[in-house]
Amino acid sequence: MTTVLERYNRPAPRYTSYPPAPHWREAGGELLKEALHNSSRPLSIYVHVPFCERLCLYCGCNVIIKKDHTLAAPYIEHLVGEMDLLKDAHGRLATQMHWGGGTPTYLDVHQIEILFNAIVTRFSVPQDAEISIEIDPRVTTKQQLHALRSLGFNRLSAGVQDFDPQVQAAVRRVQSFEMTRDLVMEAREIGFESVNIDLIYGLPYQNRSSFARTLDLIREIAPDRIAVFSYAHVPSMKKQQKALEPHLPPETEKLGLFLTAIEGLTASGYEYIGLDHFALPNDPLSLAARNGDLHRNFQGYTTHAETDLVGLGVSSISHVGGTFTQNYRDLESYNASIRQSSTPVCRGYVMTEDDRIRGAVIESILCHRRLDKRLVESRFGIVFDSYFATELQRLPEFERDGLVSGSRTPILQVTPLGRLYIRTIAQVFDAFQPAAVASRAV
Ligand SMILES: C[S@@+](CC[C@H](N)C(=O)[O-])C[C@H]1O[C@@H](n2cnc3c(N)ncnc32)[C@H](O)[C@@H]1O
Repeated sequence: MTTVLERYNRPAPRYTSYPPAPHWREAGGELLKEALHNSSRPLSIYVHVPFCERLCLYCGCNVIIKKDHTLAAPYIEHLVGEMDLLKDAHGRLATQMHWGGGTPTYLDVHQIEILFNAIVTRFSVPQDAEISIEIDPRVTTKQQLHALRSLGFNRLSAGVQDFDPQVQAAVRRVQSFEMTRDLVMEAREIGFESVNIDLIYGLPYQNRSSFARTLDLIREIAPDRIAVFSYAHVPSMKKQQKALEPHLPPETEKLGLFLTAIEGLTASGYEYIGLDHFALPNDPLSLAARNGDLHRNFQGYTTHAETDLVGLGVSSISHVGGTFTQNYRDLESYNASIRQSSTPVCRGYVMTEDDRIRGAVIESILCHRRLDKRLVESRFGIVFDSYFATELQRLPEFERDGLVSGSRTPILQVTPLGRLYIRTIAQVFDAFQPAAVASRAV
């Protein structure tokens, strides 16, 4: 007899888009230009700053390690060049902006100001826009924090992962609780409205009691939001992760770590938004979750549905209307494209009607943990049970194992147990095979 964990902990996408990026095809900048030309929705701007001074061994992100900062200034020039190529979006209202990485605070104060001003002179960013940045507390100075705040940044996301010294040493990211707490306190004092903290479960040497201690410390900082990511182990793509293998917790222990997070955080007042996100009850994410207004995109869970995402920088993703595009993932190709005045897109995808239907079904499962088949029918003019006849045949197995209920009724409901395997449940409605390097659901 296999266990539920063994049966459902399969490689599955995180569904920040449908179809997931590995299924997009080779494409050029015209695709993005045309999509921008045909859309007039407000923007959500994402800026990728890929640089870090040091490599954290768990890292699965698109990063460039460079101790000296010589690449920063030319990179900003290329970002400005990229913006200049997106003329159709100029002047458009941008209600949201996020700088991610890598480490955006790798840029010094002067560079941050140059980049920010270049953006706000090309796009219309109002006073009340949601402007957020990912920071690594180890390399973020008070001076940078104050500069960010006076430019208008109002949300902060700080990487922590784990406070346990043995775990920190194993992943080569040593960061004290006190330094992290003091930086967050400073951010609050100078007016940052919201703070998020990232943790990862499934790292070497983690166990339930050590992780519970990290959660206790996080509670002292009391961030508005907490992301508890499942460690994505993809050593075929990220060679440095191989070093972590000897001390990774077994699958059952990894699941136990996540249960520790759910139990600990909900007991101390956080709401479990879904997948890997928690938020305080008065946070906009929690309110949206309660009102059925939650959406999912490349930023994870979001309350901003009706925007076009424009991603700037190496490897960034844009989603405009029904078109996805991604920029070159290596700096040389990205730079070369911009030097030739060509929008640096390397792949993309235009959603079909089938993708829209499946995307809406998957989003509903991930955001609301329920699927009202009648809403899908009225929105898309289909008969749910015949359109998804094959998929529906797979659900009784999930129902027998207690992961969903009501699969034969108009409303499919995900159970508390099913929340742990929500990516696997959503995958039932995915017409594409999982990518070879997709991480596991838990
Ligand atoms: C792009 S990183 C930027 C964080 C920032 N550079 C820092 O060091 O604090 C954002 C987050 O991705 C998460 N992350 C990175 N690699 C991961 C992996 N292999 N599996 C799961 N989460 C990962 C970490 O929680 C990290 O804080």
